[in-house]
Amino acid sequence: MAEPIHILMCAPDHYDVDYVINPWMEGNIHKSSRDRAVKQWSKLNHVLNDLAKVDLVQGQLGVPDMVFTANAGLVLGDNVVLSRFFHPERQGEEPYFKKWFEEKGFNVFELPKDLPFEGAGDALLDREGRWLWAGYGFRSELDSHPYIAKCLDIEVLSLRLIDDRFYHLDTCFCPLTDGYLLYYPEAFDSYSNHVIEKRVPAEKRIAIAEADAINFACNTVNVQHTVVMNKASDNLKQRLGDVGFSVIETPLTEFLKAGGAAKCLTLRINEPVLPDVHASTPVESRVIQMVGHLLDAGIMNRVLDLVVDNGGSFKVLNFNLGIERQSTSAADVRISAPDHEVMEEIMSQLIEIGVVAPSDEVSNARSETCEQTGVAPDDFYVTNIYPTEVRIQDQWIRVQKQRMDGAIVIGDGPEGTTAQCKILRDLEQGDRVVVGVEGIRTMRKTANRELKANDEFSFMAAGVSSERRVELVVEQIAWELRQIRDRGGKVVVTAGPVVIHTGGAKHLSSLIRDGYIQGLLGGNAIAVHDIEQSLMGTSLGVDMQKGTPVRGGHRHHLKVINTVRRYGSIHQSVEQGVITQGIMYECVKHNVPFALAGSIRDDGPLPDTQMDLIKAQEEYAQLLEGTDMILMLSTMLHSIGVGNMTPAGVKMVCVDINPAVVTKLSDRGSVESIGIVTDVGLFLSLLVNQLDKLTSPYQTI
Ligand code: ARG
Repeated sequence: MAEPIHILMCAPDHYDVDYVINPWMEGNIHKSSRDRAVKQWSKLNHVLNDLAKVDLVQGQLGVPDMVFTANAGLVLGDNVVLSRFFHPERQGEEPYFKKWFEEKGFNVFELPKDLPFEGAGDALLDREGRWLWAGYGFRSELDSHPYIAKCLDIEVLSLRLIDDRFYHLDTCFCPLTDGYLLYYPEAFDSYSNHVIEKRVPAEKRIAIAEADAINFACNTVNVQHTVVMNKASDNLKQRLGDVGFSVIETPLTEFLKAGGAAKCLTLRINEPVLPDVHASTPVESRVIQMVGHLLDAGIMNRVLDLVVDNGGSFKVLNFNLGIERQSTSAADVRISAPDHEVMEEIMSQLIEIGVVAPSDEVSNARSETCEQTGVAPDDFYVTNIYPTEVRIQDQWIRVQKQRMDGAIVIGDGPEGTTAQCKILRDLEQGDRVVVGVEGIRTMRKTANRELKANDEFSFMAAGVSSERRVELVVEQIAWELRQIRDRGGKVVVTAGPVVIHTGGAKHLSSLIRDGYIQGLLGGNAIAVHDIEQSLMGTSLGVDMQKGTPVRGGHRHHLKVINTVRRYGSIHQSVEQGVITQGIMYECVKHNVPFALAGSIRDDGPLPDTQMDLIKAQEEYAQLLEGTDMILMLSTMLHSIGVGNMTPAGVKMVCVDINPAVVTKLSDRGSVESIGIVTDVGLFLSLLVNQLDKLTSPYQTI
């Protein structure tokens, strides 16, 4: 029989709820009864005395939470890692616990200052002693885990807590004898649940529901096959009983008011060490560098939020704040992630923001050979819209044909190494594809506060557009359209049939006629409805309110398709004098190329509609080459398709009555995209009007 279990407790002589450092304490200041607390604690102490050997540490005035000895530190064998409390309110406990451990002859380890770790509240040994589960997210810092692994020579598995009611690991997680685990899965992020499920087989996992969790059922003291807790539902008692545990309930309601229960009130101080268990941790860290208007443009916030949202952690090593308005700031930040996979995910998102590795740490990009045509190696780097460079043989090489959601292929051209974006289906066997996140950087225009302030548009993406503000944006767009036309640039429109239903056809037609548009992209519908309107003289078949075809009108719609099919193409129908006005007419007359991409719902289709989607994507991509500005008019799918093919630097204007569509499309994280929530017909009429004003030498009122 192994040595009896040895537990440290602290009598509640000075216990009270004096402050609020967790949600349980809210509204409970001085609301717990000392008498009842003493009674409840004594009962627990009594129960445990029957099961284990209990030692006491003297409580102290002014540190009321010292009763929660779980937070004294973490013991393994003769070693103890002392807690470094996150909240100043509890830091006063540290010297008392330290003294106690020293007097008992433990090897005492102290973590670096400013590295919070709250002892056995956040670190629980697997009951077979194989590894240590360590929590982070509220009180303990992820970066403390590698230290603990080293001090205690044990494997540490990091679990991220995401529900502030379960701010310590021991409030929602309790390893039990025989490899069982009592836990509340909702308190953890999905990555952590994954880690748990990988280590603990399904038949050993006792997942509890919220009702038990909030009674602190996971905050259990486990001694062999007995579990001692505040309270458990009948169902939970039954489940625990079924796998051989007897449950002792002992009410600890006075301590719940401070956010603790049975397990929090105890610390195991004789944890046996297994001979073949050694330090290891999947936690990874690396340093990144950022330069730019880190504060003004909100980059610092974005970076740090992104790291934390993905389950990582950070430490700002240096921050050189640019003092003048125009000067940039620079920062070095150490990023930690619970494992390699999470680190790669965080890094690929950071690369997109323009973050780089410090120059002394840059490595070359890694590549793997594509083994199957059309299939990338598993770990391939997925491209974004920003100008990208990859490091090959210590040289940065610019990636050609930048687009989103592609892979980067390294090649050998006549002028040396090349890199280019390829979409998956274009990959060929033998292509060298960049994998991982090393040696990749993207360039971002330095967004500064002026650009942000000028960005009159985000308010509209947020759905609060006022008419005057739409007019302001239209003025700016008109100005740019004019500039682009006059310098021989290129504007492409992608439009949905709503343009016709909302009366925008005549305005779009005039834009084409006046040379503002150099390409048109859309589906079968926009062309059909446009031609329908021009052939029939009305917007037949279209319910003006809903923008959907009405029953009788459906025939007109098919007749139009039939007519164009008879003439062979839209071009032919125009040449033969059948179509005499409208958007498609103007395109043909002014040699503005168009591409119509088919879909499953298309009637007909028109002979011009490309029903082979891969070919349609190619036609789109070709037509988009060299574009300066894209007007996206009320068509979500075509606009998303277009957005994916387009590198940063191309101005995009997205107009839709639905704010969700506008937000989705204009949120490319680039300063070039503008979202306007308004009726597209109204937008086009304002735009044409504004352009007329720019053209006419007379003041129009
Ligand atoms: N009021 C204490 C705190 O917020 C409660 C600690 C509970 N201890 C525990 N191991 N969960 O820190």
